[in-house]
Amino acid sequence: MEKKAVIIPAAGSGTRMGSDIPKPFIKISGKSILQRSIECFLDIDELSQVVVATSDEYFDDCHSIFSSFDAPGISFDVIKGGKERQHSIWNALQIIQPNVSLVAIHDAVRPFVNSDRIKECFDVAQRFGGAVLGVPVKDTIKKIDEDSFIKETPSRSSLWQAQTPQVFKKDLIIEAYRTALKENFLGTDDASLVERMDKPVKMVGSNRENFKITYPIDLEIAKLIIENGL
Ligand code: CTP
Ligand code: MG
Repeated sequence: MEKKAVIIPAAGSGTRMGSDIPKPFIKISGKSILQRSIECFLDIDELSQVVVATSDEYFDDCHSIFSSFDAPGISFDVIKGGKERQHSIWNALQIIQPNVSLVAIHDAVRPFVNSDRIKECFDVAQRFGGAVLGVPVKDTIKKIDEDSFIKETPSRSSLWQAQTPQVFKKDLIIEAYRTALKENFLGTDDASLVERMDKPVKMVGSNRENFKITYPIDLEIAKLIIENGL
């Protein structure tokens, strides 16, 4: 079996949420969003490493989250994040164990990801090199110009929203990140860095529970789900 690692970027400032505490460290029913997101991965076969990227002041919080887990065989690391999400992931990639062959990248603020979907994503990445969880877009998407006039309405049937995890063969994702860094390319997800190298990445159907806690309304929905056991 292939050894697996998961990188959890948790170094963002949460501008759109506007809360004092960074989103991953907000607690719902006594447990942080970060802890909930990590827990979704702990029963994945052959998971050998979890790397969280965050700021210095949250290292202690990460260590206490790690010590709450009963997960023999998994090593937990915390490293310093960077200015952009891409820099945080790049820092984490530097310490992935040599014997790991598949790397998942999962936002700290997606605590409702389904473990069967994670497994499927790993399987597809093993076969094709890269796999991303996602759902078909539900709203019609418009492309606009700088004066807000609509320029184009792409057909909805081929549009999907990318979620995380995004899983890749280790050598491929390291190469994609190294190339992006060298060419000053900044993407909004991990797959886009692999796509621009003309390597295949397959979309894997997920569900809408795996939303990203981004705006205050998302936090309210997350609280409703957790507090009502939905
Ligand atoms: N992230 C990170 N390092 C950064 C920026 C973001 O590790 N420099 C992480 C966030 O902590 C989050 C994930 O990447 O877990 C997805 O990012 P997003 O939802 O955009 O979070 P923020 O960047 O914190 O929020 P915002 O964009 O509203 O500022
Ligand atoms: Mg952001």
